[in-house]
Amino acid sequence: MLLLAIESSCDETAAAVLQDGTNLLSSVVDSQILLHSPYGGVVPELASRRHIETIYQVVDQALNEASIRLDQLDAIAVTQRPGLVGCLLIGMSFAKAIAYVENIPCIGVDHMAGHLLSVFLGEDHPDFPYIALVASGGHSSLYLADAPLSYKQIGQTRDDAAGEAFDKVSKLLGLGYPGGPIISDKAKEGNPAAIPFPRAWLGTDSLDFSFSGLKTSVVNYVNRASQKEEELHIPDICASFQEAIVDVLVEKAITAAKKSGVSRIVLAGGVGANHRLREHLNKRGLDEDIAVFLPPKHFCTDNAAMIAIAGYHLFNSNQYESDTLNMDVYSRSQIHI
Ligand code: KG4
Ligand code: ZN
Repeated sequence: MLLLAIESSCDETAAAVLQDGTNLLSSVVDSQILLHSPYGGVVPELASRRHIETIYQVVDQALNEASIRLDQLDAIAVTQRPGLVGCLLIGMSFAKAIAYVENIPCIGVDHMAGHLLSVFLGEDHPDFPYIALVASGGHSSLYLADAPLSYKQIGQTRDDAAGEAFDKVSKLLGLGYPGGPIISDKAKEGNPAAIPFPRAWLGTDSLDFSFSGLKTSVVNYVNRASQKEEELHIPDICASFQEAIVDVLVEKAITAAKKSGVSRIVLAGGVGANHRLREHLNKRGLDEDIAVFLPPKHFCTDNAAMIAIAGYHLFNSNQYESDTLNMDVYSRSQIHI
């Protein structure tokens, strides 16, 4: 079974070819980081336009690298939600055109389902059920996954997503975009205990997140230092800020596993590429006798291979809209509490 997947929900144009649900033949990602970095965040209109410019080459490259022709495909999967509607429409229209010409099903995929299943692109695969911590630029959520297509959101952010907090703090410190990799790099030379930034636990048992107070606390710290004309120690700020985010993400994931009686945690989403988060989650997993599964970093950030895995399961279980050409895109995810 040969499946082509397309992802264009935000600032990555991506395509992948997957054989029989497990054999990844190609995965191409064209990142728009350089386009958006002067603005300190993703500019939706620029993102859509860039998707239009690059989608043909990206899909063509994915097919070429897989040595597959369009007429060999059995199905096409495409991110249908959540995301920037203008961006989603580019991938959806392209996918519909291929499905129409080749007379194959076009399967709409929830981007979050892709992140939840991205762990199967790595070497080490968990059994079900597992807790998934998905931390990205747009989401910070905890899910309980019972089966490939059965998952429930059990926690979410009440304000900023973890990646968004990294990006905003990086902008505030004048470090550039995207903030996550830059801050984690600077943090390597800093002391994580230098500044006691707050951790929002929201009650002992809560599985929700809140990162806006932490961001405000960094703003206040920087403002106070500039009023006193003190020099900022950027590595210490980065390390202390990162530690505050990592502590909360890790402890909430552990609490979710304990509360649900589940002994596996899977990490996903762009922030899942963070070295300190991976290290700390691994350590806490060992302490608590919970198995921790970390997908390769390039499958944590947005890609089409994860959309292919989700698309494969939807295809196999016949869970897709048959009226391909009337399928729409949506800004919000379908996976809710
Ligand atoms: O999953 P992703 O590629 O796109 C979304 O669906 O949002 O995640 C992008 C986010 C950005 O906010 C970026 O700053 C963050 O992931 N990120 C990181 C790291 N690499 C990317 N955050 C912390 N540490 C990293 N190493
Ligand atoms: Zn994502």
